[in-house]
Amino acid sequence: MQNDRQSFNMTIGHFRGNMQSTNGNWAVVTGASSGLGVEFAKILAARKINLVLTARSEAPMQKLASELISTHGIQVSVIASDLAKPGSATALRNRIDDQNIQPEILINNAGYGFSGSFQLQSVEALNTMLQLDIISLTELTHLFGERMKTAKRGHIMLVSSMAAHQPVPMLAAYSASKAYVLSLGEALHVEFAPDVNVTTLIPGLLNTGFAHAANYTAPKAALSSVIPTAEAAQIGIDAMFARKPSVIAGTMNKIMATMVPFVPRSTAAKIAFDMAKK
Ligand SMILES: NC(=O)c1ccc[n+]([C@@H]2O[C@H](COP(=O)([O-])OP(=O)(O)OC[C@H]3O[C@@H](n4cnc5c(N)ncnc54)[C@H](OP(=O)(O)O)[C@@H]3O)[C@@H](O)[C@H]2O)c1
Repeated sequence: MQNDRQSFNMTIGHFRGNMQSTNGNWAVVTGASSGLGVEFAKILAARKINLVLTARSEAPMQKLASELISTHGIQVSVIASDLAKPGSATALRNRIDDQNIQPEILINNAGYGFSGSFQLQSVEALNTMLQLDIISLTELTHLFGERMKTAKRGHIMLVSSMAAHQPVPMLAAYSASKAYVLSLGEALHVEFAPDVNVTTLIPGLLNTGFAHAANYTAPKAALSSVIPTAEAAQIGIDAMFARKPSVIAGTMNKIMATMVPFVPRSTAAKIAFDMAKK
């Protein structure tokens, strides 16, 4: 938990945004050190929403915080935290409490995958991934969702993946974890309504740090579906404020998703396996 104690809190000025569209002064963005998380933070900052940025890597978040503070005059708190550690969600919530911040928006974005043969992935590595992708995401949703329900307002976004729609051999545990996220998000969208909104973003392949972290080489056929990361983030934020249950980012991905019900899951899994081997 050493990292957890290395908090860096940057605040300037007073909140002065127009909050009519969100009723939210503060948003927590997990996985805010790179990729989609950075884009979420930029979009929310442009709406004058104060931010808690969290991930393990503190330096990129400090840099982002400085930019957002000077560009948008918002307040930003940077909290370095490893959400793959058991208990880290509660620890993060406690540290946000210590700063008297009551978030009205939670962007559950931090996540990564392992690609490759399931049997070659160690139990420890699988546990770490599932702790981040499933357990911490669930705990944060519970911890902040509880308070949002009491306050009768708030937005929660869960970041799933196109991999949630079908079994994906060679990304087996990751795709299963994202199926969990999608199912959880769509269930809570109904359970938390009408006061608190839960939206699940379903991105396809993006050009972020994900592929490197997953040691993943995308099948060539999937490359044409890539959209800019900022565009995917904007689609997610727009859907969240429009209180949609879920949204697929990108036209190609939407088209692919329409085919899912017509292909037997066993066939889809075999096709994905064959593509992964090429
Ligand atoms: N890129 C894609 O093709 C794609 C497609 C569909 C869905 N997604 C999903 O989109 C989300 C964002 O990923 P991305 O594409 O933006 O990839 P990314 O650039 O690798 O960003 C992942 C973020 O998660 C954080 N993270 C990783 N391990 C963590 C840990 N143990 N504790 C706390 N934070 C941790 C990383 O920060 P630190 O390393 O600094 O901790 C980073 O900020 C993920 O949930 C991913 O599964 C991505």
